[in-house]
Amino acid sequence: MPLLSLSLARRFGPALWPLRALVAGGWLQESELDCLLRRAHPVLRLNRVFARVESRRWVADDMLALGLRTNGNAHGWRPGQHVRLYQELDGVRHGRSYSLLAAEVDGRIELAVKRQPGGRLSNGLLDRLEVGHVLELEPAQGELAWPSDAASVLLLAAGSGITPLLGLLRQALARGFSAPVTLLHYVRRRSQRAFSEELQALMRRHPNLQVRWAISGEAPLAYELMGRFRADHLAGWPAHSLLACGPHGFVAGVRDWWQALPRDGSLQLEAFTPPAPAVGIGTAVRLRFARSHRELPGSSAVNLLEQAESHGLRPPHGCRQGICAGCTCQLLAGSVRDLRTGAVTAGPGLPIRLCVSAPVGDVELEL
Ligand code: FES
Repeated sequence: MPLLSLSLARRFGPALWPLRALVAGGWLQESELDCLLRRAHPVLRLNRVFARVESRRWVADDMLALGLRTNGNAHGWRPGQHVRLYQELDGVRHGRSYSLLAAEVDGRIELAVKRQPGGRLSNGLLDRLEVGHVLELEPAQGELAWPSDAASVLLLAAGSGITPLLGLLRQALARGFSAPVTLLHYVRRRSQRAFSEELQALMRRHPNLQVRWAISGEAPLAYELMGRFRADHLAGWPAHSLLACGPHGFVAGVRDWWQALPRDGSLQLEAFTPPAPAVGIGTAVRLRFARSHRELPGSSAVNLLEQAESHGLRPPHGCRQGICAGCTCQLLAGSVRDLRTGAVTAGPGLPIRLCVSAPVGDVELEL
């Protein structure tokens, strides 16, 4: 039985600043203090973010929305960002990034977990996580933002790409955004239309919002679109600002459509799967890892995270999808290609995300 309620534990957090100062000065060990704090409440920590599961709600056949309440260490989080969540399953610690649907000032957050074929953490959370369980989260990251000044907004989501976009949409509508908004959600089966009841209720309350679903694995009904993303799905919809989120192939198709014409509006894209590895177009390069004092053979077709790992290095990383920035590293010399966009970054001294960067020629990394 915790000594404090969660609300009290949250209020207690700011009073710990003298201990934080002593840890920062090397006078105390953070891990030892955390052991004591968790006795007062399982989420209480000096600096790390822990959260208690407060609710579970199925929002599609294969997607569960989780309501969590964090300790007082989650600062400045906002819907549309993503957090990396950790859970121990069968004695092994697993981590994965999920988008924030909500982030309130009282520490309540919402995220959604989709069942994945072979997804140990996602499926473990769906099947075993219960109200009252405690999870660790990393600080939220991500730059998706609502284009408040846009004359119209087009939101394109595939699969669980609906989660960051719905988080932003909820907040924008609640704040009175009144320009036209169109949301297309691409799913394979009708039963995968996550949050469809909430979206329909939002449409009833906000006449400026139109939501449509595109179904690729079943015959579509009236008012549904058929198949995967195609340019003709967007005929007649103005798009002064576009936000798209989904697997890499979907996001790449949206980007190509957007770039096919000159446009004034803004484009924001987020892919939650890594680009498919290029096959057969790699050339041999040299990889120099400055801190490890190693020079090794590499390929221009494979991301640098995988190449470093294949040589026994262990760069820090998170999502492996270019989202969390957990693999960011300095490019000391040479150029790399962003596997999502094709953009080339040339050193020296620029930060790159190893998991979505492939060397263009010989490179040197601060690793
Ligand atoms: S591991 Fe998340 S951005 Fe590379």
